[in-house]
Amino acid sequence: MRILLTGGAGYIGTHIAVSLSLNGHEPIIVDDLSNSCKSAVSRVEEILGKPVSFHELDIRDSTGLNAIFETEKPQAVIHLAGLKAVGESVAQPLRYYDTNINSTISLVKVMSDHGVRRLIFSSSATVYGDPEYLPLTEEACVGLGISNPYGWTKFMIEQILRDLAAAEDGWQISLLRYFNPVGAHESGLIGEDPNGIPNNLMPFVAQVAAGRRECIRVFGQDYDTVDGTGVRDYIHVMDLAEGHVSALNHLVPGVATYNLGTGTGSSVLEIIEAFGQACGRTLPYEIVDRRPGDLASTYCSPEKAAQELQWKASRTIEDACRDSWLWQSTNPDGYL
Ligand code: NAD
Ligand code: WQD
Repeated sequence: MRILLTGGAGYIGTHIAVSLSLNGHEPIIVDDLSNSCKSAVSRVEEILGKPVSFHELDIRDSTGLNAIFETEKPQAVIHLAGLKAVGESVAQPLRYYDTNINSTISLVKVMSDHGVRRLIFSSSATVYGDPEYLPLTEEACVGLGISNPYGWTKFMIEQILRDLAAAEDGWQISLLRYFNPVGAHESGLIGEDPNGIPNNLMPFVAQVAAGRRECIRVFGQDYDTVDGTGVRDYIHVMDLAEGHVSALNHLVPGVATYNLGTGTGSSVLEIIEAFGQACGRTLPYEIVDRRPGDLASTYCSPEKAAQELQWKASRTIEDACRDSWLWQSTNPDGYL
């Protein structure tokens, strides 16, 4: 199928583009490059050994998006475009609501006009807020304890898409709730390239390993977890990418929701240790105060995806650290 990838020049989108192509689909990337660059797309082309269709566009521009649908004739869409920095969303709520919500509304209107009603949406574990129980299944309560506008945009978009599918026949929508994506393509040619100081743990650890930053700050060691540090379900980005290909192959009428995670939690100290093994030295860290809004522990039950999508994460934390280190050490300043 011809698959339009909004936000396809970003961290997760580039890896999905590779997986799609390797599985016989044709990715069409649409991205405004607000948090990415054209050379990421060139790297995807380098991995695949062939050109990939790319359009620079803010998808809130529905006229421009309409023109792309007319020429490219996509048969399905994977919608990743949006802003994702939690702290920034607290400081700039309107920018987050405008970008994330209005880009989705613009997209689904254009899709509907063109009779394209197959959609996969990048949702997030953040919709579960304060977890009701662990491991999280898709039936767990959502919305309670969401602590930032970014998380609310994911919650609201899920609802908008459910309302749309209830109102209009023909939609096949998969809401994929990602846990913590980490790692890079095994070639080391694409990976995560955050602007400024990384908010997330793995890219921060990678930059300390590369000597770009001095010391990892561990946010709290007094949680009720295995070693007192926060526990998360880290999923290799290539497993996540393959999850999208499976979701595409198993779309059903209406809306279906899936957790994409491994089902296993790792602590901050376990990640630092694993990355140290991958880069061949002990990484310096200090314990600092808890980060406001952080949860002690979160990990998913990946059973529904295993049964209905026939998909399971197969890569380990060690694989993720190895691939992340290859990307970081061969591209110390990210994409140039
Ligand atoms: P990213 O910032 O690397 O990729 C998002 C891409 O969207 C960027 O290339 C950006 O330029 C583009 N974009 C933003 N607004 C746009 C617009 N209006 N029109 C066109 N393009 C636009 O982020 P990512 O980590 O690859 O995340 C992809 C998606 O997955 C996002 O929706 C994010 O919320 C979701 N997600 C990410 C994580 C994570 O930890 N990385 C976890 C859960 C969910
Ligand atoms: C992981 C663990 C931190 C940085 C966030 C978003 C979530 C989702 C993924 C998009 C926690 C600890 C971190 C550091 C640390 N994004 N940590 N020092 O918070 O689980 O999720 O990204 O949907 O919405 O909230 O991921 O990587 O920031 O943190 O000790 O410098 O690492 O306290 O325990 P998080 P993270």
